[in-house]
Amino acid sequence: MPAPIIAPSILSADLSRLGEMVRLIDEQGADWIHIDVMDGHFVPNLTWGPPVVASIRPFTRKPFDVHLMISPVDPYLEAFAKAGADIITVHVEAGPHIDRSLQAIRALGKKAGVALNPGTHESVIANLLDRVDLILAMTVNPGFGGQTFIPQALSKIARIRQMIAARPIHLEVDGGITPLTAGSAVEAGADVLVAGSAVFTGGKPETYGENIRALRRATTPADERMAR
Ligand code: DX5
Ligand code: ZN
Repeated sequence: MPAPIIAPSILSADLSRLGEMVRLIDEQGADWIHIDVMDGHFVPNLTWGPPVVASIRPFTRKPFDVHLMISPVDPYLEAFAKAGADIITVHVEAGPHIDRSLQAIRALGKKAGVALNPGTHESVIANLLDRVDLILAMTVNPGFGGQTFIPQALSKIARIRQMIAARPIHLEVDGGITPLTAGSAVEAGADVLVAGSAVFTGGKPETYGENIRALRRATTPADERMAR
């Protein structure tokens, strides 16, 4: 099993120094930068829009994994693409025309992701598998960092992994991922781990690096670690 991609969510970073935070987690081993966009309507919280994404773009060359928790979403896809997103993920619950949104993301030259809330059955994405590069299984209800991982999501992750079969689709988990929960998420089939509070706890750059390494240790078998 290859080591998972670690995607720190900057939602839990020191927001007064966002650019610097992005540079730090890049230097400390983050694979992707996960950017949570919330609209106060689809989810009960507000964050930022395309200008903020554009402003932090120069601080790293690592992929920007933009998780849109907004409705409607279609009017904003182009702006996020221009702001520097590499992967744009939209929620199946956020609108009636998910297939159109996913096509629009690919037409902008970006990787298309589809997200499912914990209460959404995976059958809703069965017809979308040829349209997506990434499936995001929420392991908390979206809106806030620091919530507790919902263990019932594990069986769904395993079923989505089966649905993906041999397709080149990433399976990302988001919410409550810590060194205690990361291993079971990866065992169930996840290959991308989003972690906000688990990475940014401790408040110092060295701690971020140690936190990222702790997630890696929790998801890499000891024999593979020794071989590296
Ligand atoms: C929640 C967001 C997550 C959040 C994860 O709505 O989509 O990306 O930042 O935070 P933690 O890792 O603290 O649960
Ligand atoms: Zn997210």
